[in-house]
Amino acid sequence: MIPVKQMSLVGFMQAGNATVYAGSWRHPATEHGFLKASYYEKLGRTLEEGCFDMMFFDDRLAMPGIYGGSVAEAVRYGARPVKLDLSIVLGVIAGATRSIGLGATYSTTYYSPFHVARTFATLDHLTGGRAAWNVVTSVNDSEAQNYGVDQVLDHDARYDRADEFLEATTGLWDSWEDDALVLDRANGIFADPAKVHELNYDGAWFKVRGPLTVPRTPQGRPVLLQAGSSGRGRDFAARWAEVIFTGDPSIEVARTHFKDQKERIAQDGRDPDSVKMLPMAYTVLGESTAQAQQREQMFLHDFVDPMASLTLLSELMNYDFSGLALDTPITDELIESVSGIRGLVQNLRAHIGGTVTLADLAGHRATLLQGPRFVGTGAEVADQMEEWFETEACDGFVIAATHSPGAYEDIVRLVVPELQRRGVFRDRYTGATLRENLGLVRPECGAHG
Ligand SMILES: Cc1cc2nc3c(=O)[nH]c(=O)nc-3n(C[C@H](O)[C@H](O)[C@H](O)COP(=O)(O)O)c2cc1C
Repeated sequence: MIPVKQMSLVGFMQAGNATVYAGSWRHPATEHGFLKASYYEKLGRTLEEGCFDMMFFDDRLAMPGIYGGSVAEAVRYGARPVKLDLSIVLGVIAGATRSIGLGATYSTTYYSPFHVARTFATLDHLTGGRAAWNVVTSVNDSEAQNYGVDQVLDHDARYDRADEFLEATTGLWDSWEDDALVLDRANGIFADPAKVHELNYDGAWFKVRGPLTVPRTPQGRPVLLQAGSSGRGRDFAARWAEVIFTGDPSIEVARTHFKDQKERIAQDGRDPDSVKMLPMAYTVLGESTAQAQQREQMFLHDFVDPMASLTLLSELMNYDFSGLALDTPITDELIESVSGIRGLVQNLRAHIGGTVTLADLAGHRATLLQGPRFVGTGAEVADQMEEWFETEACDGFVIAATHSPGAYEDIVRLVVPELQRRGVFRDRYTGATLRENLGLVRPECGAHG
């Protein structure tokens, strides 16, 4: 019997020198094509061949520069100092693919609603309905300092601002009604002015007149992605997100998170099944179990530099760890003094157990990061993914790469056919848009003006 439910698969991509795993650039099979269009085109084609729902690119608007107050370590060790402009990267991939969804991360703290609404509406039109926006509030002072402010806003204020940002952006996307374009050559009527509305959004953070300069898009609105893990972040995701990324290190943590987040979605009056929760996961594959395990050891030990780990940890936590000895215990007080992604440390502490030191944290950040690692042959990895999927730990995965593009080529060649054979993953795209492929409804156009 074919299960009704199918998992969603998303590629967790980086437009830079390393994957989310900072040591990936040192992997012998990594291609250093990150400054070439052909590299991104190839990634797009590979994931589309594997019928992935989407590839989404993460972003941060600064080099990691919190550790020791300098970017030197990030540059020296390649701890993700390179980040290309994502709208252009997605435009390149759009031309090389036909069906795969294309997501990019844009910050509600440093960009403006009109700019973001226009970028994603344009992408949605030019890709025939494949655009998605990963909504982030940004995490650290290095980003703030690239945008003219000394410090990142307080955590909850960032989310208050993001709520307004989304109200304004969705309003702009709806500022043209679906049938506003007339294109009547004979009578010289281009569009119906009664169906194109000013927004006149007037909030505490934003004032936006509108209308948008882009008509309503194939998906109505681009798909909204989000990854809030704090209580405030989960509430924000419950209100807005259609795909939620999580960083849960174990299946138990993931199940609790899944239940909590779906309850919050229901409390917000939305259908919990209409929102996909996707934990980030690494896959380490081999032709045999032994080969996969050997590759895992290489991934865990050979390319990880502790300095790169601490650099990234400082970036994510917005906390300069350079003044602390490696055997410093990570206490509640220390976590309280961190303004970045606290949930990451809390989760890792719970996962490791006992007294957790900075060295433990750095080791986990470098290797495990936030998510699980599925290791084995194609069938073994498919077993592990199915277990998460079938036991309400997730609706699918956002797949991070140990090396690129090889890790994606491996999953497409070895795992995807297994999942397809088991009926838990598509063997072709059936929808015309990303929304349709994800099983999401096209939002009604709200009344504005
Ligand atoms: C899979 C995944 C991808 C993420 N991508 C980004 C990103 O590209 N840029 C960013 O600033 N934050 C990113 N984050 C962090 C989240 O946006 C968020 O800040 C974090 O999960 C902490 O949530 P909180 O702000 O509610 O505490 C990501 C998180 C996860 C789990």
